[in-house]
Amino acid sequence: MPVIVCNEIDQVREQLAGARSQDPARIVGLVPTMGALHAGHLSLIDAARRDCGWVVVSIFVNAAQFGPREDFAQYPRPISEDLEKCRGSGVDLVFQPSTEAMYASGCATTVQVNAVSAHLCGRRRPGHFAGVSLIVTKLLNIVQPDRAYFGQKDAQQLAVIRRLASDLNMPVEIIGCPTVRAPDGLALSSRNAFLNERERGQATALYRSLLAIRDTVEGGSRDSAALVRAARDLIEQSGPCEIDYVELVDPESIEPLSRLKEGTVLAAVAVRFGECRLIDNLLIDVGRDRG
Ligand code: PAJ
Repeated sequence: MPVIVCNEIDQVREQLAGARSQDPARIVGLVPTMGALHAGHLSLIDAARRDCGWVVVSIFVNAAQFGPREDFAQYPRPISEDLEKCRGSGVDLVFQPSTEAMYASGCATTVQVNAVSAHLCGRRRPGHFAGVSLIVTKLLNIVQPDRAYFGQKDAQQLAVIRRLASDLNMPVEIIGCPTVRAPDGLALSSRNAFLNERERGQATALYRSLLAIRDTVEGGSRDSAALVRAARDLIEQSGPCEIDYVELVDPESIEPLSRLKEGTVLAAVAVRFGECRLIDNLLIDVGRDRG
């Protein structure tokens, strides 16, 4: 089946109404993206393909979630390659709206998920999660999927969207999917293309620092400050870079944890290499305190 490409909201609704009337039991999955699709995005599409009878991928570089000094203009937009990848992955419909189609009458409404959005990236990127929350709300309302797929790579975004869907009683299941990495551990990201050779080498320090935190926790350490200090040292040893944050937080509330307790902790890092800001994270099981 060829992939259907829609640029207008009405077209998407018409296609979905058609697909649902053919088979009312058909499960619809949505994978929201900003394009420049890589194996990380394709893993979400594969997960949707496995669970759902109809898979919609949205491609929209959402200006509202970029800050004034961020890389909106430079963000890669390889449209025909993206469509080819969707076609090859068995996507049923690609929704690729223009900014005019998405914001035809402007938008007087804000969607702000408080608390969860305030930490980590929220503190460094004011307005970012409000931009994400608004566009995801719009996409979920347009497509009305049964399931929507997001990457654990953007752990805070996933936590914000889970909270949004729950607070607003949205009839959608939010599915988190594991981070896809390069063989040397670097999490795949559309932004990796902006790294020069030296920075690309340095960038492996993000995942190595997360693994070091995990090893030390497994060895019995529960002291966040000491764990963070060691991880920061490891990243700094890689060469010139600017660490935005290294933090240990609760995976749902994203609240910082000063002392780890039994359960799951999210170790999260954000580092700038030149103009390129990379994020990564790891969920770590914390066993019962032996100390
Ligand atoms: P984008 O960065 O294009 O990512 C789209 C989805 O792919 C997100 O859910 C992200 O977490 C996931 N993803 C990215 N890299 C991944 C990797 N290496 N492994 C697994 N999943 C990965 O995130 C956004 O777009 C936007 O904020 C969006 C939700 C579309 C709203 O505009």
